[in-house]
Amino acid sequence: MEIREKWDSRTAFIMASVGAAIGLGNVWRFPYVAYDNGGGAFLIPFFIALLTAGIPLMILEFSLGRKYQAGAPTAFAAVKKKTEWVGWLALFAVMMIFLYYPTIMAWCVNYIVHSLTLKWGADPNHFFVNEFLRKSIGPSVLGSIRWPIVIGLGIVWTAIYLILRKGVKVVGKVVKWTVAIPWAILIIMVIRGITLPGAGEGLNFYLKPDFSALLDAKVWLAAYGQVFFTLSLAMGTMIVYSSYLPKKSDVNNNAFIISLANSGTSFFAGFAVFSTLGYLAQTMNVSVPEVTNSGIGLAFITYPTAIRLLPFAGAVFGVLFFIMLLTLGIDSAFSQVEPFVAGFTDKWNLSKKWVLRIVCLGGFIIGLIFTTEGGFHWFDILDHFTCSWGLTIVGLLECIVIGYIYKTDKMRKYVNSISEFRIGKWWDFTIKILTPLILGISLILEIYSMVTDGYGGYPAWATTIGIIVVAILIVMSFVMMKIKARKENK
Ligand code: PHE
Repeated sequence: MEIREKWDSRTAFIMASVGAAIGLGNVWRFPYVAYDNGGGAFLIPFFIALLTAGIPLMILEFSLGRKYQAGAPTAFAAVKKKTEWVGWLALFAVMMIFLYYPTIMAWCVNYIVHSLTLKWGADPNHFFVNEFLRKSIGPSVLGSIRWPIVIGLGIVWTAIYLILRKGVKVVGKVVKWTVAIPWAILIIMVIRGITLPGAGEGLNFYLKPDFSALLDAKVWLAAYGQVFFTLSLAMGTMIVYSSYLPKKSDVNNNAFIISLANSGTSFFAGFAVFSTLGYLAQTMNVSVPEVTNSGIGLAFITYPTAIRLLPFAGAVFGVLFFIMLLTLGIDSAFSQVEPFVAGFTDKWNLSKKWVLRIVCLGGFIIGLIFTTEGGFHWFDILDHFTCSWGLTIVGLLECIVIGYIYKTDKMRKYVNSISEFRIGKWWDFTIKILTPLILGISLILEIYSMVTDGYGGYPAWATTIGIIVVAILIVMSFVMMKIKARKENK
């Protein structure tokens, strides 16, 4: 077997994990999910999810990867052979994500060019939906392919391939740039946002808690799904990254640093988006929730608005901003492809080079669906089912496997023996009882509401496809478990 690559240092590991975590999930997904789920209504479940599931599961995944020095399926198989499929399910979840995630990056590539002339003008919403995407009326109308987006997608997949071909050491290096620069740019965006007229209204919507929403299962699932998405949990990423950790390296402290740095970034980016939404509401003379129904397109409406309203050098800044989104996305994107590739190479001893090539090419080709005029709808549906359903299911299963089969106290002792500070019994409680309980109840309620109301106003057949995809992935993960591993060397 090839010798497992290792990080050079603790900083390299933290940087790579922060790079995987901080991504479009913070500046694109977090604001839109928060907006769709009522702004302030979403924040409480989000922070609860972060503390009760995000940090505990990150500790769990780090220790799993570090202990077994393998990707998700192999690590779960080492816990108990019969649970290997949970690892595969995690990889199929991340596969779903890397099928659509690069699409947003492809949009960014285009927006770099559009920034030069601030082409979206005074109505970024109209520009994004009608001129750029040429969004079709519904998921049944795919329409033609949008070539500018295809070109963007090609560039993004080539970059992912080239970086991953070099191996994880490079990842640590690239990330230094992909985290620091974005933060600087984000600060400027927030300052511009909160000094716009009407910003207060938007921030009010963002920050004012709405306790009645706490009874809504959909909001809870969205919050847990977003926490998993943004921390790259329940997808094998953190398991495989920590499997590259040298023996004897801290877990607990790293998990806290990474989770808090990441959610801090989301919370901060929210200020830029919601203050601009307040401004838009004022100019359009509507309330904040009425500004747009663009969902996954929200970031492409609010940020361009703020960019155009900068006092000077809007074009330069626009270019910089979208380059930043790209750099934020790229380290996350390759951290999605890496665990998937590692899952196959670890189990069957396949050549990494070839698996990588096939996955990148396949990702590009399947991703073409999202470059069509109707692609937006499919993106929306898949994003919902992957995160609100797929990730929460995997998260729930991870808790059950470690909580009841491996046993949390055994894992806690292990992780405390290598960490800089110790975690207490509260950790066992979150993994064994609290998180499974919240996830289990929300999932059941969500399934019920999905059957009665569907999702996002899409026709029933379209949401059924979403459910079927989740079901197929579960079956496939069992199939992968059943196929025999290949131990001998090539
Ligand atoms: N956490 C990343 C983001 O917020 C996305 C991601 C998902 C990365 C899955 C790795 C694995 O953008």
